[in-house]
Amino acid sequence: MDKNLIKKDEYIKQDIISLLKLSDKAAIKELYEHADQVKEDYMGKIIHVRAILEFSNHCCRNCLYCGIRKSNEKIKRYRIEPDEIIKYALKAEDLGFKTLILQSGEDYYYTAEMLEKIIRTIKNNTSLKLTLSIGERTWIEYEKLKLAGTDRFLLKHETSDPLLYRQLHPDMKYSNRIKCLRDLKSLGYQTGSGIMVGLPGQTLESIANDILLFKTLDIDMIGIGPYIPHPDTPLASKFERSGGYFIPAIGHFDLEELIYKVIAITRIVTKKTHLPATTGFNVLSDNDIREKALQRGANVIMLNITDSDLREFYEIYPAKKELAAKNAETLQGLAEKHKDFQFL
Ligand code: 5AD
Repeated sequence: MDKNLIKKDEYIKQDIISLLKLSDKAAIKELYEHADQVKEDYMGKIIHVRAILEFSNHCCRNCLYCGIRKSNEKIKRYRIEPDEIIKYALKAEDLGFKTLILQSGEDYYYTAEMLEKIIRTIKNNTSLKLTLSIGERTWIEYEKLKLAGTDRFLLKHETSDPLLYRQLHPDMKYSNRIKCLRDLKSLGYQTGSGIMVGLPGQTLESIANDILLFKTLDIDMIGIGPYIPHPDTPLASKFERSGGYFIPAIGHFDLEELIYKVIAITRIVTKKTHLPATTGFNVLSDNDIREKALQRGANVIMLNITDSDLREFYEIYPAKKELAAKNAETLQGLAEKHKDFQFL
């Protein structure tokens, strides 16, 4: 490996692929340390703690990997009504949060007009920053929601490989996903995207393209998480696990390490972005992987404030149930344990 690759000013695609393939322990450590330094240089030491409310698990989409896909009849569906969503927001502010993420499946029960009202009411009664994560809408709707006061919007592109995107998302178009992201940017949203790592059919080259796309689109927030097979989805049967993760295009690999590398490289390439350590990490192993991610480039942590009786139904991947219980305790512990954690 080129000795100076890690510290290069700008990575080209081939550099990223080489870094994703790194196997030398000392070199990997150097990559993580560099990412941590870039995070500190551009974002400071602070870890942002944000609240997330999963207000509906209804979804009109049928993404092959996702536990709340429309065709999964095994889960109980719920919706939190607008008045209740507003109460949650007030509670989030009382708990000390400064940011609330409102997330749901792609659920058109909530019309733009309904969402506008919810957002206006929350913005008029709290000083919370509001993030929406509700899937694809039209320019006109995104515009309405922005004018109502929404600050940020999350819409992961999941994979930048158009063919894989099509295979995983029946009746969705990769080109529309990217159009939505461009629309959100043009409308002035702080815009978030993200990917899953370890998808069957994914290649290191496509991950390198994902990282470069974050930069090309000038994405502000980037959620990188492991793909976790969900037994009630069509994709689960395609996934093979034998002494680590195996994906034909990549071979055997350690998913935990691959994720850290993707986060670290994304931090180095995108510099001034918000990178959450997503809950999916903790499913990978018993160690607190999220904490490790925070030392390798990530700078945001999201805590679920949805009432515990509903949380288990927002099962996009298995084991989220147990995680949900842990999440609430974390809130108390966090501020005491880490002086760098702040509600922002
Ligand atoms: N594993 C990991 N992440 C998943 N998501 C959905 N299903 C899975 C899964 N099986 C993530 C996707 C999507 C969000 C709703 O949850 O990134 O954007």
